[in-house]
Amino acid sequence: VSRSKQIKLVLLGESGVGKSSIALRYVRGEFNEHGEATIGAAFLTKTINVNGCAIKFDIWDTAGQERYHSLAPMYYRGAPAAVVVYDVCSMNSFNRATLWVKELLQQTSQMVIVLAGNKADMAGENRGVTKEEGKDFADEHGLIFAETSAKTGMNVEDIFQSVAVKLASD
Ligand code: GTP
Ligand code: MG
Repeated sequence: VSRSKQIKLVLLGESGVGKSSIALRYVRGEFNEHGEATIGAAFLTKTINVNGCAIKFDIWDTAGQERYHSLAPMYYRGAPAAVVVYDVCSMNSFNRATLWVKELLQQTSQMVIVLAGNKADMAGENRGVTKEEGKDFADEHGLIFAETSAKTGMNVEDIFQSVAVKLASD
């Protein structure tokens, strides 16, 4: 018997942290050094196979600029999964990510939430958020945690795979 499942997933986080880049890396295997800020939101899909189940991700890549904040509930409402992204070089973006997580947790308790510390390839001496800070916040709130790089592709497939595995059996 072939099974299939659709998962609505929303990407949230401050402008410039790399949400669109993560989506582009995941869906098309590409990276753009000079991507433009998203206006409103973008929609992408990708279907993968998890243990014989076809999982179709409906990905809403939201705009991080603050003037779009009021639109976000339209995209995360009813979504079983979210990836909240920050930039490991920016404590500001991490603080913004923690606010997104708290907003999501106030709306729903069921959601699978990934906290992604992106631009790990740039960390080195530019690092502004330690891996422990990310991991501790994630553990405290029951989130999946990973540091990612849309540029190298590090852990990008893994975060979607983790979501799919968690939701495949529902
Ligand atoms: P908004 O659409 O405004 O919310 O921004 P966004 O979160 O979608 O950011 P976007 O993906 O447009 O990336 C912003 C900039 O960061 C672009 O110049 C990207 O090339 C760069 N960038 C994104 N991810 C990475 C990464 O993992 N490593 C490096 N080095 N640069 C990245
Ligand atoms: Mg974008």
